[in-house]
Amino acid sequence: MNFPKKVKIANGEEITLRFPKKDDLEKLIRMYTTLSENSLRFLRPYEFSKEEVKKMFERVDFENVYSVVAENEKGEIVAESRLIKVSENSAELAVIVHDSYQNKKLGQTLAREMIEFAKSRGFKRLIAFINERNRAALHIFEKLGFKVEARSYLEPSIMGKSGAALKLVLQI
Ligand SMILES: CC(C)(COP(=O)(O)OP(=O)(O)OC[C@H]1O[C@@H](n2cnc3c(N)ncnc32)[C@H](O)[C@@H]1OP(=O)(O)O)[C@@H](O)C(=O)NCCC(=O)NCCS
Repeated sequence: MNFPKKVKIANGEEITLRFPKKDDLEKLIRMYTTLSENSLRFLRPYEFSKEEVKKMFERVDFENVYSVVAENEKGEIVAESRLIKVSENSAELAVIVHDSYQNKKLGQTLAREMIEFAKSRGFKRLIAFINERNRAALHIFEKLGFKVEARSYLEPSIMGKSGAALKLVLQI
């Protein structure tokens, strides 16, 4: 079983990586609706609304959409990673770390654990779409072995206000 799993991040804090629970919605709303403009700029041109977060939460079915959340010692959700099935063998991987927890190695730890989880679920190929200006995200995904396969312009609603999207691929 991959999760729950406790990991230590760069500031020594213990974070629990686990599957979401029914009563996590409020915690996820808090996380998504308090992301800074800086975090949102590579994702979308507007803030997350409560309704959107609720819809995202309801989509998690562990058949087509998988989610793992990161909880801090105070019980707050500070990051989420999603795997979205795109075909029998492949899935899209995304990671979002709240501003207050960025640059503490949580993003890469969570992404690494999700790759192992994806393997255990039988996926053979992972895809990530990353804004080419998103240096930290590109750095993490390339560090984990992803290779750029294509460059294109996607809608701002999924890739932020400006910048091309890079499609990265990892065979697992
Ligand atoms: C991108 C994101 C997931 C990274 O998470 P994080 O927890 O801050 O990342 P980590 O601390 O694990 O690692 C950051 C790495 O990027 C590097 N980095 C940070 N800023 C960088 C920059 N401007 N240029 C190059 N590398 C950079 C750090 O040095 C570190 O690498 P290292 O451990 O090899 O030294 C997080 O910033 C985030 O959620 N951003 C908003 C949403 C997003 O862009 N998601 C990605 C789309 S899937």
